[in-house]
Amino acid sequence: MSEKIIIDTDPGIDDAMAIFFAFQSPKFDVLGLTTVFGNVPVDMSANNALILCELAGKTDVPVTLGMSRPWFGRPSTYAHFVHGNDGFGDINHPPAKGKLDPRSSAQFIVDMVNQYPGEVSLVPIGPLTNIAAALRLDPTLPSKVKQVVLMGGTARAPGNVNPVAEANIWNDPYAAQIVFAAEWPLTMIGLDITDTLRFNQDFLDALEQGNSVLGGFVNKISQFYMDFYSQGQAQRECRFHDVITLAYILHPEWFEVEQCKVMVSTDELTRGQTVCCPKGKGISEPWTSGPYANVALKVDEDKVNQLYKTVYAL
Ligand code: BDR
Ligand code: CA
Repeated sequence: MSEKIIIDTDPGIDDAMAIFFAFQSPKFDVLGLTTVFGNVPVDMSANNALILCELAGKTDVPVTLGMSRPWFGRPSTYAHFVHGNDGFGDINHPPAKGKLDPRSSAQFIVDMVNQYPGEVSLVPIGPLTNIAAALRLDPTLPSKVKQVVLMGGTARAPGNVNPVAEANIWNDPYAAQIVFAAEWPLTMIGLDITDTLRFNQDFLDALEQGNSVLGGFVNKISQFYMDFYSQGQAQRECRFHDVITLAYILHPEWFEVEQCKVMVSTDELTRGQTVCCPKGKGISEPWTSGPYANVALKVDEDKVNQLYKTVYAL
């Protein structure tokens, strides 16, 4: 039986890579793409998600519009310098023709989880604002969701926005704290893994060879992304952070994880830091009690790399 998933997303180049992977894999049943601000403004996230559905021939997959700004504080300034003005590496793709589902992203999540209690995995790969809002709409959500596997945070690796914070968590630390404080099975796939796994032009060419439409699109949009990631270094390469969540759902045995209490800093200096205390190592409150998240620390890189190429070529 395939895994029912909802991808909460801000496409975004690595988001596109992840969404196509989910569409291609027979092991996933994508119930919907719920969009959020993050890499780009939320209306652009939504348009881009519709474009991805159209390219993949998945126009029956609902796409919803979600939160446009963080839970608290100033609006986001987005990451156009990483993902391009259009979120797709400035390729000037025509606007999507499809229509959005009328529900908000948070309402859609609540509806789906209640329709399939115990079956839905949430896969947030953007700021956690929609997920926090869904928790507020339905506080019983944690007992009905199968699991949450999110891309965000870092336990030991340096941050990618400030010295200690990863972008998705930094974008909305208040929402992230709400999500980490909920009593649900949660796995954090953070920079400890996603910053280590590097992808080069040979990898992108292999994706395109396996799937000229979807792999070809990822190859095209990733050129801008590679320029960003390769600044000041000899080799041209990039990171595909978001898709590693899906590899984890399919093959948790490839990952080394540690159970940790995770709390998120909302202080300006350390905004978005995910402070991770291994279970049993807490000396004082709040570190001596849960909830605990599975924090991914290592992965079998070759297996993940091969999985992407195989699934794109299906
Ligand atoms: C995360 O931030 C975004 O730029 C990417 O899409 C990914 O979700 C990596 O820090
Ligand atoms: Ca993302």
